[in-house]
Amino acid sequence: MRTFCCAGVLFLVCLTTIAFCDKQWWQKAVIYQIYPRSFKDSNGDGIGDLNGITQGLQHVKDAGIETIWLSPIYKSPMYDFGYDISNFKEIQPEYGTMQDFDNLMTESKRLGIRVVLDFVPNHGSNESDWFDLSANRTRGYENYFIWADGKPDPNNPNKVLPPSNWLSAFRGSGWEYNAIRKQFYFHQFAIAQPDLNYRDPLLVEEMKNVLRFWLDKGVAGFRVDAIPHLFEIDPKDFGGKYPDEPRANFIDKVPEEFDYLDHIYTQNQEPTYDMVYQWRDLLDSYEKKDGMPRVMLTEAYTPVKLTMRYYGNATHNGSHLPFNFEFLRGITKDSDARDIKFIIDKWMTYMPLGRTANWVNGNHDNNRMASRHGIERADIMNMLALVLPGVALTYQGEELAMTDGELTWEETKDPAACNTNDPINYYKSSRDPARTPFHWDDSANAGFTTGNFTWLPLAKNYKELNLKVQIAAPKSHYKFYKDIVALKKEKVLVEGDLESKALTNDVLALMRYLPNEKTVVAIANLSPKDSTISLDSFRVLPSTMKVYASSLNSKFEKGSTVQTSNLTLSPYDAIVLST
Ligand code: NOJ
Repeated sequence: MRTFCCAGVLFLVCLTTIAFCDKQWWQKAVIYQIYPRSFKDSNGDGIGDLNGITQGLQHVKDAGIETIWLSPIYKSPMYDFGYDISNFKEIQPEYGTMQDFDNLMTESKRLGIRVVLDFVPNHGSNESDWFDLSANRTRGYENYFIWADGKPDPNNPNKVLPPSNWLSAFRGSGWEYNAIRKQFYFHQFAIAQPDLNYRDPLLVEEMKNVLRFWLDKGVAGFRVDAIPHLFEIDPKDFGGKYPDEPRANFIDKVPEEFDYLDHIYTQNQEPTYDMVYQWRDLLDSYEKKDGMPRVMLTEAYTPVKLTMRYYGNATHNGSHLPFNFEFLRGITKDSDARDIKFIIDKWMTYMPLGRTANWVNGNHDNNRMASRHGIERADIMNMLALVLPGVALTYQGEELAMTDGELTWEETKDPAACNTNDPINYYKSSRDPARTPFHWDDSANAGFTTGNFTWLPLAKNYKELNLKVQIAAPKSHYKFYKDIVALKKEKVLVEGDLESKALTNDVLALMRYLPNEKTVVAIANLSPKDSTISLDSFRVLPSTMKVYASSLNSKFEKGSTVQTSNLTLSPYDAIVLST
């Protein structure tokens, strides 16, 4: 009996050790999001492209990053800048050719960079073969999209009304009439983005083949778009009808706005989770073949408990990394140390044991991090994402603290803003400010293109705020970022425990600790004033530590030794100490 117990304990210890020691690449990665249209233009047409990305890979490598995620590169009429896909297995011609993609893969491999692609399962394009075939009721394609008869218009016998009150995320009815099929199709996003029908087994298999196609080309995984929208209710359960959605509690919304309704029939439907598990099985089957784990990241702006469901359950694995949008939603310019600790604790509390955390500071759908928080807090936000356990997501330009571009109504291209038809308030809905081209240097057009036009105007501060300047400067946002990316590879940040404290209302400290390893403490002063603090409440810390990295506005010298019981931080200081 005793032997049996000991063996059991040993087995458990081993299991725990394996779980913590053998972290897979995706559990400790920094994932750098590239928005292809705006990263680098290699042919002078003012639009970023695949060869531009290949040219820019050295920057990714130099920053110490080993994984990139590309926003969609597939054939698209570009109503939603690539998220309206007309052929899921072809490259958008203005981005290059399949050969350019293959070259990008070869060069990434040479540099040791993994490529994750965007997978947009919810919708296709109304300018695609699939859509035409379905509109014409061609055998096999009839049910690829969500088609429904209109309702008779009581005021006009020659007219039909949309099947239900369902809305598009980009404003107005989510239904669009198609004269060929003489039915409405449902689109949760733009009219150009008809929803695909996951109740059709042929479509389900077709989309799995899309995944297989790119996996066979060697990609390391997928970021899955707009996952909560995947399924709508099954009309069979509602007498063959699409029921109206009830009003939401947002009293400030007008009827055209998406948030006017509570999306009980069009979001977070139960079968969504199973589809994610099926895709996970597909990814895992590739790992079984060659031993290389593939990763799935899922995009869901949902309440935290629903987001956690994507990780999987006791019987199924799901998304490796359901995006953690709590930084985006919960931290503002005014957040103090307590607020931020609370947001960190929230994710760590709800995340199922044994899963991997992730920290998202921005993406192409939100104002840039340095604009949301103020550029003075940018180093703090980068430091938090990189020092916290798990995966850090960096949207291109965050490493430089790039700020939003400013666009006039005439320059605005994003359908979310254009559909407001409001030349005064459009900017509140616009995602263009975060999508202006990357600042490579201070030359004309920021080194983004050799031509004299850029598809979106450059942010005005590119002459002072660009990669070249930040590489040359003795201290910069980029250098601070890069230092911490390097540290993130060390055992203590990969495997260590986390202890976070609001030392005062203004000062947040994160300790990462692992027995027999160096200890790391990241400290952020969120105040515009100096703050003097002591780290004595972290009882395991020694009386002196070394400054491993110090932010642009910090007075601490890298490599210097500090007394942990008495530290005076400059306004918005961010420092990383190590034993
Ligand atoms: C989320 C993407 O990030 C966004 O850019 C796009 O407009 C919608 N999904 C629709 O695909």
